[in-house]
Amino acid sequence: MTFPERFSGLPEYAFPRLRRLLDAHAPGGEVVHMTIGEPKHAMPGFVGEVIAGNLAGFGNYPPNDGSPELLEAIAGWIKRRYGVAIDAATQAMALNGTREGLFNAAIALCPEEVRGQKPVVLIPNPFYQVYAVAAQAVGAEPVFVPASAETGFLPDYTSLPKDILNRTAVAYLCSPSNPQGAVASREDWATLIALAEKHDFQIFADECYSEIYRDTPPTGALEVAREGGADPERVLIFHSLSKRSNMPGLRSGFVAGGPESIAQIKQLRAYAGAPLPLPLQRVAEKAWADEAHVETSRALYQEKYAAADAVLGDLPGYFAPQAGFFLWLPVDDGEAAALRLWQETGIRVLPGAYLAREVNGQNPGKNYIRVAMVAPKDEMQQALERLKRCLYA
Ligand SMILES: Cc1ncc(COP(=O)(O)O)c(C=O)c1O
Repeated sequence: MTFPERFSGLPEYAFPRLRRLLDAHAPGGEVVHMTIGEPKHAMPGFVGEVIAGNLAGFGNYPPNDGSPELLEAIAGWIKRRYGVAIDAATQAMALNGTREGLFNAAIALCPEEVRGQKPVVLIPNPFYQVYAVAAQAVGAEPVFVPASAETGFLPDYTSLPKDILNRTAVAYLCSPSNPQGAVASREDWATLIALAEKHDFQIFADECYSEIYRDTPPTGALEVAREGGADPERVLIFHSLSKRSNMPGLRSGFVAGGPESIAQIKQLRAYAGAPLPLPLQRVAEKAWADEAHVETSRALYQEKYAAADAVLGDLPGYFAPQAGFFLWLPVDDGEAAALRLWQETGIRVLPGAYLAREVNGQNPGKNYIRVAMVAPKDEMQQALERLKRCLYA
């Protein structure tokens, strides 16, 4: 059997790699999982009722683009959240979570060539891993741009050479960022959008952590693009109910942006997409229309930020996350720290290097661990105290 070369260079995925690192060793104490970004707060109370009330929908093929009601609910949320009016029918599409959308949008939209050359896809480093495999799938060159302490944990795409920018087809930007919890300001977005206008590339704004923040709602890419009068096709935003509504198992999100881009994505997914079952689209519709459950969950995260700051705030290099639910903690060596923590305390965290790529001999995640603040607050706080004693005493 011959398998394609296309994906042969992919590193092993972070979680099997972590199991290989840790599972040969016994935990040194009560096990606490702080590795995976799986929200644990309550999902909204209406989920079962809505599914039960729409059971007949499992008897239908679901609408590929999202039901008109779901698309209207999404457009309503975008208007309330960002003050941006979109046409629900042509400027938004339902996704099975943002992961597949971030992948499929590249397939639908990345051209074969840019100015006669191989296209470039800009990717922050560290990053959510699907961006790189999307670039590989379309035969583009991924360019990993450090998002380190020196650049405020966001990639500085303006620093790239002109020949790279002139070949760029797509720039991914995650804000609030996973893993660091940095937020792109209005000015950051405006600068990136101006760069994209100048060099004519698209921005895929991964905003799936947008509703988990301390006190100020993060600015959205679409609102800045609209305010600045950018090409309507310039920015696509990706949002999810996985983090906002604590339903990673629902597999529901959306992409919104320019009508031509959305039409291209719809066309691809009409052939190859896996639309969300109708009863689940009904749940999603209700979730986008409801903020009460989001506020309740956010308040719990705000308590967790305070707890993390209280325990770890005095560590040199501690970055108090502005949003999202990860801590990105500096250590000498992320793998060694994760292993030691597991063997001495039973706490599982992810070595930062597993979320980043080595470029010119440097892996910008190497000296970090990622810690997910998903456990209940008291359990999380106790775990952070144990982590601090183990790694920083
Ligand atoms: C940065 C980022 N983007 C996208 C996703 C995908 O989320 P989902 O497919 O559940 O919407 C995740 C999930 O962990 C993420 O951390």
